[in-house]
Amino acid sequence: MPTVFIKTYGCQMNERDSEAVAAQLVAKGYSLVKSEHVADIVLLNTCSVRDNAEQTALGKMSAMIGLGRKDRPDQIFGFLGCMAQSRGQELIDRLPDVDLVVGTQKFHRVADYLDDLLEGRRKKIVDTDAESGSESTIREHLVSGGSQPSVTAFVSIMQGCNQYCTFCIVPYTRGEERSRPIPEIVSECQQMVSRGVKEITLLGQIVTSYGKREIAKHEGKTAFVQLIEAVHDIDGLERIRFTSPHPKGYGDDLVEAYVRLPKLASHAHLPVQSGSDRVLKLMHRGYDRQRFLEIVQKLRLARSNIGITSDIIVGFPGETEEDFNQTLSLCREVEFDNAFLFKYSPRRDTPAASMPGQLPESLIEERHARLLELVNEIGARKYDAFIGKQARILVEGPSKKNSARVMGRTTCNKIVLFEGSERHKGQVMDVSITRVGSFTLYGDPAIVNL
Ligand code: 5AD
Repeated sequence: MPTVFIKTYGCQMNERDSEAVAAQLVAKGYSLVKSEHVADIVLLNTCSVRDNAEQTALGKMSAMIGLGRKDRPDQIFGFLGCMAQSRGQELIDRLPDVDLVVGTQKFHRVADYLDDLLEGRRKKIVDTDAESGSESTIREHLVSGGSQPSVTAFVSIMQGCNQYCTFCIVPYTRGEERSRPIPEIVSECQQMVSRGVKEITLLGQIVTSYGKREIAKHEGKTAFVQLIEAVHDIDGLERIRFTSPHPKGYGDDLVEAYVRLPKLASHAHLPVQSGSDRVLKLMHRGYDRQRFLEIVQKLRLARSNIGITSDIIVGFPGETEEDFNQTLSLCREVEFDNAFLFKYSPRRDTPAASMPGQLPESLIEERHARLLELVNEIGARKYDAFIGKQARILVEGPSKKNSARVMGRTTCNKIVLFEGSERHKGQVMDVSITRVGSFTLYGDPAIVNL
């Protein structure tokens, strides 16, 4: 049977989509390989959120075609996901060796399309159509071999986003919000737990809007909180995480969930994007600085150890020095455990791309460097505070960089490395933190409590 190499760019949703495609292909008899050089089929699952991500995937594809076509004239090349959705046929016009372009609502058709291409029924396939019900098609998981199952799993709960932030391409690449029913999600989570999974991350482009149209509020609780409660009831599940939320979705019912539901991890990723009310309005974020600070305060009251992380865009059109200073001061006030910084990148079809006051690259670079310094300094202080303390971690498995180490995460989402072995995988254990690296904690195996 044919061999497939899948490379994924972008967010956790993309990782999850790739996993579901891989699982479908494996079920049909395809085998997965780790390199494009030995693959009959090469698929790039793409990201469009910034121009950089698109250019990287385009560059990778043309390099692979250049090398691959010489040795393997029949190799099949495909683009999947967000860039496939937004560019469609244009990708084949630009790279005529590309055979397959499959958008974000058609991942479940990839195996059929590959059959068509392999058997010569069709020469090129582009499918970027919308499909109703596609939110429920991302459900297959790769089952990792018996004795060493995965400790963590991602479960897709919804697709799309209706927020239309003016900088963001996601509503155009992922479509309208569509949510899966609670029982369907719970049963997928149950299956994962029965295979040994201890931590589940609920995934969607804007999870706090989960089920808004489909599921009525119940006893003042939004559909998203109802879903978390239902997943929380699963025996054997240790932790629940979710991503990506929107700050405006942190109503009191979600804040209270942190008080009531112990399996809900003590972490909130709150993408603030800017500290300036003027810029937040231009971005169409739906909250102001005051409201954001209020949410942070409420969450810290609900869970004193909560880890708070964020995404921030630097150089949004028209951002003045004063606006940028507001972002710096917000970071000082909140003290994020970590924040991902993004240089504003104009995206096609988005309102911000044609707003006045697009800033020069050099100014964006300069502000990015200043903010990065501050975020790193605050992060280092927060991580340093763990030295000498015990941290309870869920061990996920060997560290990617150093196989003598194992990696676990604290409930507040900090990575902890220590010298352990495969037998620690899946355990919840207390580790003493001895030193700190860049956004990483190190535990001493000598004082691990077993
Ligand atoms: N330019 C820069 N950053 C962006 N993001 C989304 N769109 C853009 C853009 N056009 C960032 C936001 C979002 C994260 C996933 O990517 O901060 O939260």
